[in-house]
Amino acid sequence: MTHAKPASSSVVVSGIQPSGTLHLGNYFGALRQHIALHREYPSYYFIVNYHAMTTLQDAEALRRYSLDVALDYLALGFDPTQAHLFLQSDVPEVTELAWIFQTITPVSQLEKGVSYKDKVAQGLPANAGLFTYPVLQAADILIYGGDVVPVGADQKQNIEITRDLAQRFNQTFSPGEPVFPVPEPLILDDVAVVPGLDGRKMSKSYGNTIGIFDDGAELKTKVMAIVTDSTPLEEPKDPDACNVFALIRLFAPEDERQRIAAAYRAGGYGYGHAKKELLQLIVERFAGARERRRDLARRPDDVMDILREGGRAGRERAGVLMDAVRSATGLVTTYRSPR
Ligand code: TYM
Repeated sequence: MTHAKPASSSVVVSGIQPSGTLHLGNYFGALRQHIALHREYPSYYFIVNYHAMTTLQDAEALRRYSLDVALDYLALGFDPTQAHLFLQSDVPEVTELAWIFQTITPVSQLEKGVSYKDKVAQGLPANAGLFTYPVLQAADILIYGGDVVPVGADQKQNIEITRDLAQRFNQTFSPGEPVFPVPEPLILDDVAVVPGLDGRKMSKSYGNTIGIFDDGAELKTKVMAIVTDSTPLEEPKDPDACNVFALIRLFAPEDERQRIAAAYRAGGYGYGHAKKELLQLIVERFAGARERRRDLARRPDDVMDILREGGRAGRERAGVLMDAVRSATGLVTTYRSPR
């Protein structure tokens, strides 16, 4: 589903979990769009560490991955003077809003959660946080008055729940004077589901990822491990049925893509050739970012300053919405939200 360009006044919001090393699925499905949009729209991008806690219960790892996601954004070209990048936990009001939303969320809707069912099927403990995860995500999006949410296709159902919650809240508590806009997902067709090494959706939980900043022997081993069929080298091959080409087409400019597709169809071009070309494309694409990342990693205090400033802006914006929420619901507090 490709959407028209958002209206220029749209508030763009999105989040990424610091539950592991970011991979090419995160990059093509989300991060690249975030970087492309962040200068053009008022935007809030958050590192959703509360969400990551539903599956990661290791303080050291959560801290490290949280900073890593910030480094990834900045290295890939996010300019913190143009949009806000921050830690979800710097806006603790999202958990308050999530609670309020829980009181208007039918359990039956959460029971249909594909992501919840999938994670439990993979053996993750069915904790209540995992179950109510989409409600916290709705709070993330709506607390900044988000209109547009650039994500991969796997987030479609969560955004649907967010839309329902915005509408239900407005109808229940402020009919005629909506507190929340009803946001739209922004999902680009050609990157809606980036495949992993085995052709399934690239995902940490499937162990089929290539990290954005993997390099050297690790990167090479992963690329060489991409699953292909056993068509002999000399025979023609169908690029559209090949896991290697599925990634090549994300990296290669149009003319390169056509040249490689033609080589597949002509025969005499093996999967080993394709993997070498893919490896080269990955290395080239991230060479500049890799250097910037190395440099930034030596300045963690600067990165923290950027996150602090982003968090301040996020919390200020959230405070405005939370005052409206408390007022609409009759939650009496004796203080005003921090501004
Ligand atoms: P997460 O952290 O799993 O993934 C971050 C983003 O990467 C996209 N993505 C993919 N896109 C295409 N192909 C893939 N193989 C692939 N793998 C991951 C995801 O769709 C996502 O856009 N629930 C969210 C985090 C979240 C959030 C939010 C997102 C929390 N609050 C508010 C938007 C708005 C998640 O688990 O993403």
